[in-house]
Amino acid sequence: MTQDELKAAVADAAIKEIEPWLEKDTVLGIGTGSTANLFIDRLGKFAGRFKGAVASSDASAKRLKDVGIDVLELNSSGTLPFYVDGADEVNAHLQMIKGGGAALTREKIVAACAERFICIADGSKYVAQLGHFPLPIEVIPMARSYVARELVKLGAEPIYREGVVTDNGNQIIDCYDFMINDPKAMEATLNSIVGVVTNGLFAARGADVLLLGREDGVERTA
Ligand code: 5RP
Repeated sequence: MTQDELKAAVADAAIKEIEPWLEKDTVLGIGTGSTANLFIDRLGKFAGRFKGAVASSDASAKRLKDVGIDVLELNSSGTLPFYVDGADEVNAHLQMIKGGGAALTREKIVAACAERFICIADGSKYVAQLGHFPLPIEVIPMARSYVARELVKLGAEPIYREGVVTDNGNQIIDCYDFMINDPKAMEATLNSIVGVVTNGLFAARGADVLLLGREDGVERTA
């Protein structure tokens, strides 16, 4: 199977997972990226059966609208029953690196508001240790060089993702050569650097369910 076929398989599996909960008052949290897009495309079939969705990016909001799903404000949506999103890396503890698409801050906010985070990923995203994928950090633009110097002290090789402006008007630094031994501790350490808006470690709030696309089918871990 191709990577796209594996992504499609986990998007189908996520639809099966949430379908019984789609009622007139249901508001879903929706992630960002190519796997989340496949989920959105399938969710369109159920537009009208549930209230709507909160999007983690402008791109996902547009795609949701395009398939006929109402996009709602998070501030008036309360606690969401589900947040469905992809990942750049995920480990056995369902901790993740996210933010390859620069949407990490809104992703973390919407995930925080959800009762259950369903991570959908093809098998290539599964790792024994987080950090092969460069860890994204969203920074306030004027703090970029300061944050980069602090990241070097932590052992990372920070590279500015040139030309990328997040939906929040900020910039992204990617941390290369940065294997992460203790994801929860590192998430907290990175958050304490002045000028960091969000880091791409989703460890304090990891996923509750992982739907992983393997050659022999979708593996479910909860
Ligand atoms: C975007 C993300 C995505 O979830 C992550 O990059 C995975 O993307 P894809 O499904 O395209 O592999 O965190 O900021």
